[in-house]
Amino acid sequence: MGNAVIHFNILTLFPELFPGPLSASVTGAALSKKLWSFSAINIRDYAFDKRGTVDDTPYGGGAGMVLKPDVVAAAIESLKPKSKLIYLSPRGKVFNQKIARQLAQEQEITILCGRYEGVDQRVIDEFQIEEISIGDYVLSGGEIAGYVFIDAILRNVSGVLGADESLAEESFGSEKNPEFQNLLEYPHFTKPAQWRGREVPDVLLSGHHEKIAKWRKQQAVELTRRVRPELVITTNGAAKRAICNPLNQKTNKPADN
Ligand code: ADE
Repeated sequence: MGNAVIHFNILTLFPELFPGPLSASVTGAALSKKLWSFSAINIRDYAFDKRGTVDDTPYGGGAGMVLKPDVVAAAIESLKPKSKLIYLSPRGKVFNQKIARQLAQEQEITILCGRYEGVDQRVIDEFQIEEISIGDYVLSGGEIAGYVFIDAILRNVSGVLGADESLAEESFGSEKNPEFQNLLEYPHFTKPAQWRGREVPDVLLSGHHEKIAKWRKQQAVELTRRVRPELVITTNGAAKRAICNPLNQKTNKPADN
């Protein structure tokens, strides 16, 4: 584990998939800097027979195979079971930025990646494993969800993002910037100022920081209202007021301005 800020134990039938895409870019640099570390543990190593059997048919019938409780338990118990235990599954609570931020405070997280139809319920109950889903669709296994889950958590671990990749005004905001809480991010533009007849909004060329900040906030609010109105319900007071006060279509400014 070394001195990494956060360690992930990944219980999987495909340990070779890690770190996979997490070795690139921001998370890859953080891995080299030892800001995080991981152990990919092959569940099959804990099978009780020579053939390496990890699954069996479901009681009650039905399609697919179920990961055996004794094998999964042996894999879990091979670790010091002090860490937070999470089973990535479409049946779980839906993952979001708030959960990512909270989990970034942990020192160690153990992730169980399922395959086939799932894991025997008794192992989930026995270890009181928290189930988390990365969205309302079914993947072929938890490994790809694991990439998403680990990446989103790491972005909230201090030192992982450089100054260039500030979290503050990202979609869904951050604790340091509650103004953008639950808002989608405003649009970005770079050079050239004119491209295929499309212009960069004047305000961004004005050098007027206050006006730029106000415009970005308005854009974030308007986009959220249009694309993800349900986020309005959970958003904080300030953003809620702005969202409920839509932009004037002609001036692109708040209607009460
Ligand atoms: N495994 C399969 N589908 C999943 C999902 N939607 N989220 C997390 N893990 C999964």
